[in-house]
Amino acid sequence: MIHQKRRSSLLNQLGDGALVIISTNPIQKRSGDTDYPFRPNSDFYYLTGFNEPDSVAVFSHDCYTIFLRPNDKKKEIWEGRRLGIEEAPAKLNADKSYSIADLELELLKLIDNGGNIFFDSKSCPIDNKIVDVLWRNEVYSVASYIHEMRLIKDEHEIELMQKAANISVNAHELAMQNTKSGLFEYEVQSIFDGYFTKNNSKHAYSPIIAGGQNACILHYIENNKPLNEGDLLLIDAGCEFEYYASDITRTFPISGTFSSPQKEVYQIVLDAQMAAINSIRPGVKVNEPHVIASNIIRDGLIDLGILETDGELSEFYMHRTGHSIGIDVHDVGTYKKDDYEKTFVSGMVITVEPGIYINNDDKINPIYRNIGVRIEDDVLVTNDGNKVLTESLVKEIKDIELIMNNQI
Ligand code: GLY
Ligand code: MN
Ligand code: MN
Repeated sequence: MIHQKRRSSLLNQLGDGALVIISTNPIQKRSGDTDYPFRPNSDFYYLTGFNEPDSVAVFSHDCYTIFLRPNDKKKEIWEGRRLGIEEAPAKLNADKSYSIADLELELLKLIDNGGNIFFDSKSCPIDNKIVDVLWRNEVYSVASYIHEMRLIKDEHEIELMQKAANISVNAHELAMQNTKSGLFEYEVQSIFDGYFTKNNSKHAYSPIIAGGQNACILHYIENNKPLNEGDLLLIDAGCEFEYYASDITRTFPISGTFSSPQKEVYQIVLDAQMAAINSIRPGVKVNEPHVIASNIIRDGLIDLGILETDGELSEFYMHRTGHSIGIDVHDVGTYKKDDYEKTFVSGMVITVEPGIYINNDDKINPIYRNIGVRIEDDVLVTNDGNKVLTESLVKEIKDIELIMNNQI
């Protein structure tokens, strides 16, 4: 029902007679005869709830047609179950279903209704076939309409995102409790691998398990170095549950106790993060959390003597403070360049993730070198402010130290 409501709402924006054509992702080869696990296209999944490869949805106000793989006894023994053409209409709320092999033939008939056609090609084999069928027609883009809808999460989505957040919170807590020097980064990663799998979820993105200096490599995913007593460990990991993402970063001392310089840097990031979160409510510009966090980090770094008053903040804080999150971890919407003037609307979910990354630079006081800190939470905009979906995961210095030493 939820998907039907979304399709109707999209069609209402596209005008009378509109016909939308949308396909899912192709299967991606990994190596030799092995493939990457299949992941449906996010826009397709949002509108259909269907998660099999080789499928195309075609819908107007009058008719919803789904093209999919037919049942095939032999193939299903090797590759897994298929919904099949007979079951599809009832299961997916469709009016008609055809084999994907009949796509070109049947699509020619479906586009014959004279209304505007909406389609975006991903240049994959199925989309190339669709393009060939449509070559005589004027075709309009539908992506921006779908993305505006995806920006505002409905209740069903918020529920799934809260579940994803809860799983990730628990995994981070386990990681804090079980980290000690001498372990390798991948051993800490295995806590997330196991916990996510145990809870019917997957990594929403390649996890970053970065000890010491590795935290200053923003997309560090090697996760293969030993953890040293005295260093911080930055973990950026979040699960995807029923195709909805969570995205959490915590930074904590491998020994269980922050050193004084680590505390100083950490507290600046935490103050920046809390102030940025507090600014989020409907009507506030989506860029506001970034402005607030950047100012606090700039002032803090100047106070510590790390940044000159006229210095470049981007030497130590080189990414934005957040992004929209949903079916994709970097979801459609708010954080895109031209959208910074947008304002928050109830139902948006964004991350707030300021950081400070101090490289091994002769100009820097040695006590601060190689410290990388990021703190990231997922925040739902509500009617009167916001709700942090990941709020139950500790982030105050004293609470981190307590949990690491198994005192809470
Ligand atoms: N994990 C990717 C990000 O924080 O944006
Ligand atoms: Mn992250
Ligand atoms: Mn993020």
